[in-house]
Amino acid sequence: MAIDYYERIPNNVGLADNRALQRALEHWQPRFLDWWREMGPTAFGGADVYLRTATALDEKGWATYGYVKMPEYRWGIFLADPVPDRRIGFGDTTGEPVWQHVPGEHRSTLRRLIVTQGDTEPASVEQQRRLGLTCPSLYDLRNLLQVNVEEGRHLWAMVYLLHAYFGRDGREEAEELLERHSGDRDKPRILTTFNEPIEDWLSFFMFTFFTDRDGRFQLKGLAESAFDPLSRSCRFMLTEEAFHMFVGLSGITRVVKRSLEVMKMLQSDDPARVREAGAIDLPTVQRYINFWFSSSLDLFGAEVSSNAATYFATGVKGRPDEARFGDHSAFGRLRLELPDGKGGVIPEEVPMRSAMNEVTRSLYVKDCDIGVQRWNRLIGEAGWDFRLRLPSPRFRRSVGAWAGVPTDPDGNQIDPETWHSRQFDWLPSEPDRTFVVGLMQRVTRPGKMASWIAPPEGGVADLPVSYEYVRLK
Ligand SMILES: [Fe+2]
Ligand SMILES: [Fe+2]
Repeated sequence: MAIDYYERIPNNVGLADNRALQRALEHWQPRFLDWWREMGPTAFGGADVYLRTATALDEKGWATYGYVKMPEYRWGIFLADPVPDRRIGFGDTTGEPVWQHVPGEHRSTLRRLIVTQGDTEPASVEQQRRLGLTCPSLYDLRNLLQVNVEEGRHLWAMVYLLHAYFGRDGREEAEELLERHSGDRDKPRILTTFNEPIEDWLSFFMFTFFTDRDGRFQLKGLAESAFDPLSRSCRFMLTEEAFHMFVGLSGITRVVKRSLEVMKMLQSDDPARVREAGAIDLPTVQRYINFWFSSSLDLFGAEVSSNAATYFATGVKGRPDEARFGDHSAFGRLRLELPDGKGGVIPEEVPMRSAMNEVTRSLYVKDCDIGVQRWNRLIGEAGWDFRLRLPSPRFRRSVGAWAGVPTDPDGNQIDPETWHSRQFDWLPSEPDRTFVVGLMQRVTRPGKMASWIAPPEGGVADLPVSYEYVRLK
C-alpha cells in the first residue's frame, strides 16, 4: 500500500476517506508540533539533518534518506500490509478471525495497553532532549535525532489507534499523552524507567540497548494481538525499532572498543588511568549495565500476573514471535523461584499463562546477553581477563516478586545494611555520573569523534563516516 505524502498527515490508512477522523487528527497535529518544539530536541530546529523517512512499506522503499529540518519531518500513520485471512494465533479463541474493531469487553484493556505503549514514545524523546548539545560526533547526533523523530512517529501510531477506535476517551487519552512529561513531579510518565534522566551518551546507548529492546519485545507481543489494527501498527514500528537496537549495540561496542584502545596504549586497566586518558573504564560500563538492565526488567511486569494471563487468554497480547512456540494454548506450568521472605527461595509451579511476563522477560535476557558476549569477545581478543555481564534478574528490582528484596548482582540475598554500604560498587555513583557527564563535550567536525568513543564501522546508508550528517546553522 503506497503512502500518500500529499496529505497534511502522510498515511496509508485512507485518512482522506474518513473526514471526521482526519479532522480530529489535524486538530491534534499542531499540539504535537507544539510539544515537539517545547519538549523535543533542544536546539537543532534550524539544522538540516540527514534523516530517513518512510515512503513505502516494502523492504527497500520504506527508507528514503535526505536532509530535513526536524520540525518539518513528515510524521505519519503507517500500518504494515494486512495479512489475508489473518486468524488469532493463541489463547482461548485460537483460529477465529482477528478483530477489525474493538470488542466491547476488551475495550478498556486494549486502551490501557495502547496508552501505556504510547506514553513511552514521547517520554524517551523528552529524556533525550539535551543530548544533542554534547554529541560525540555528527554521525551520532544524526542517529540520536533519527531515533527521536521515529519515537515521535510511534506516538502518532498509537494516537491514530486511540482516535480511530476509542471515540471520545481515546481523544482524551491522546491529549494526556502530550501533557504527562518525563520526570515531571505532578504529571510524570507512566513507567518509572521513562522518568529516569538521561544526561549523558553512555546512558543513551544503555537506554537504546536495554530499554528500546524492552520496547521491541512489547511491540512483538502486541504485533500478535487479535486486534488487527494494533498488530499492523506494531509490525511497522518494529521495522523502525531495528535501528534503535543498532544504535544501542553499536554505541556500547564503540565505548568498549575505545576503552580497550586506551588500555592498550597505557598497558594498564587501572580505571583511574583509563579515565585520565579520556575514556570510560570497563567497571563503569558494568555499573551502567547493572542500572539500565535492572530498570528495564521491571518493564515486563510481575513474575506472576493475572493481567498477563487474561491478555493471553483473550488474544489481546501474545508472546513475542508466537508462531515459534509449539503450544498456543499455554496450559502448562512454569517453575519459578520466588523469595520466601526469610532470605531464601521457594520453588513454585505457576500456570504458564500467569507467568507470561516471565516467559517474555527470559527471552529478553537471552537477547541482551548476545550483546554482552560480543563485548566480551572484544575484551578477550585484546587479552584482558575482565568480563562484562548481566546481573541476576533478581538484582535491584522494584516490580514483581523480587521488588525491594536486596540482592547482590549474583542474585544472593543480602541484608539492607550490606546493600547500603555496597550499592555503589554495583551501580553508578554520583562521582561516576559526574565523571561521565564531564566527558561529554560536543564534537561537530565531520568525521571527528569524542575521546571516549571509537568511530563506527561505517556511515549511514553507505555514506562515509565523515559525511556532514547534520548541517548546523
Ligand atoms: Fe518507539
Ligand atoms: Fe525505540
